[in-house]
Amino acid sequence: AARAGRVEFRNVTFAYPGAEAPVLSDISFTAEPGQTVAIIGSTGAGKSSLLGLLPRLYDAASGEVLLDGVPVTRLDRAEITQRVAMVPQRPYLFSGTIGHNLRFGKPEATEQELWEALTVAQAADFVQDKAAGLDSRISQGGTNVSGGQRQRLCIARALVTEPKVYLFDDSFSALDVATDARLRRALKAKTADATVIIVGQRVSTIADADQILVLDKGRIVDRGTHEELLESSSTYQEIVES
Ligand code: GTP
Repeated sequence: AARAGRVEFRNVTFAYPGAEAPVLSDISFTAEPGQTVAIIGSTGAGKSSLLGLLPRLYDAASGEVLLDGVPVTRLDRAEITQRVAMVPQRPYLFSGTIGHNLRFGKPEATEQELWEALTVAQAADFVQDKAAGLDSRISQGGTNVSGGQRQRLCIARALVTEPKVYLFDDSFSALDVATDARLRRALKAKTADATVIIVGQRVSTIADADQILVLDKGRIVDRGTHEELLESSSTYQEIVES
């Protein structure tokens, strides 16, 4: 039996409501369980929009987005959120304790599960350093934690739900290179069977992906591994050198 978490985009085109020009045109790719697919491209290329089609923040205008072979438009939201966790570009923490925030997708999670997720997300140290630990309060919008801490707490929150598919939208951008590398090593070990789709700006974040999609103006202009793209893609070379 196929492992769960296979993602497939088939000739997907998408335009925002009211906008004339499509933001995504003829997008096709497959991400298998155990694989990491990275998406890179200049600002406005459509990377976040692409990720948003899987949890159905929006639906494709044409083509199909499939999860384990079933169009997401035929799945109900609960089925999707059970299998897919997205860490958005501007991750949101609500006012409440760190524990509340981490349990958002799985209210019954044990403290041990929370600490495991925090450890993978490289956030255990700073939570431990707080006098109240998991009971420390986050202010509205998470303004009393740094951008990098917020990213790591939101990554931990996604880990707690143990999804089949992880969507990381530039989730590592506020981390220093060493923390980024440690986090992704831990993540890889923890999510070995999961499908990971990651939008990244930094080459070090995406270089070890099984497949990199180079997005430009809503189209996949090149695809391959880091080494292949360095050889074949002038767009990729420009991004790498910028
Ligand atoms: P960065 O996050 O800056 O790296 O860009 P991106 O590659 O993730 O592009 P994104 O998918 O965010 O945006 C692609 C295009 O869609 C841009 O021209 C945006 O202005 C536009 N866009 C994004 N969100 C919306 C929206 O909610 N409504 C409308 N009408 N347009 C949007």
